[in-house]
Amino acid sequence: MIEIKVFETQQEIAAYAGEVYKKLINEKPHAVLGLATGSSPISLYKRLIELNQAKEIDFSNVVTVNLDEYVGIESTHSQSYRYFMNEQLFNHINISKENTHVPNGQTQDLEHACHEYEEIIDQVGPFDIQLLGVGVNGHIGFNEPSLTLNSLTHIEDLKTSTLEANARFFDSIEQVPTKAITMGLGPIMKSKQVILIATGESKANAIKALTTGIIDPQCPVSFLQLHPNVLVLLDTAAAKYV
Ligand code: F6R
Repeated sequence: MIEIKVFETQQEIAAYAGEVYKKLINEKPHAVLGLATGSSPISLYKRLIELNQAKEIDFSNVVTVNLDEYVGIESTHSQSYRYFMNEQLFNHINISKENTHVPNGQTQDLEHACHEYEEIIDQVGPFDIQLLGVGVNGHIGFNEPSLTLNSLTHIEDLKTSTLEANARFFDSIEQVPTKAITMGLGPIMKSKQVILIATGESKANAIKALTTGIIDPQCPVSFLQLHPNVLVLLDTAAAKYV
């Protein structure tokens, strides 16, 4: 079931989602959170930092599992997703870094890295909340539009539209890694709740695919229509067609 809520600002989205996380973690201190990178969750992460600093959320027993990581850049690179998570959230809350998981995109043995991540997901899952953004092309995690989708952690060739969208974080499009290691759709669909945040008109088409009843691997976000508990938090621009 998909519940869509529309807000005026990212701060209002963050305030609303922050209360959902506060309730969960206060009731379940060992909660397991699936997390995302990118622009969409940044305001929420700021809110979670505020709530932690105000002692309204205690992250000391929380476990996190991130969706994805670029292949071929060091975890210390300013655009790696491990670096992003440390900078945007983990360094500012009382979480134990050993409880935070991001796929390993730096190894030569990527197949092993995928197996290793799948084992972590099996050990700590199912996630209480999986947080998602959505690509302009409908990708979730880095599960790109395709004839078939993978339920397990795998290596994905990023589509041109994704490289173009992510070029804003790099000096040039040539520097954007062309491959990523990503969680498959399995753990996303098994998570107890999904929270998807999308803002801006560029996401409006992808969001529309959540309302059509059609499940299409060429638009991976459409699979969320099969999930029993999805909360979609939008600004008015992203909600243009819903
Ligand atoms: C990030 C991720 C991606 C992004 C998506 C939207 O971990 O898995 O699916 O959520 O590309 O990115 P933003 O939020 O930057 O528009």
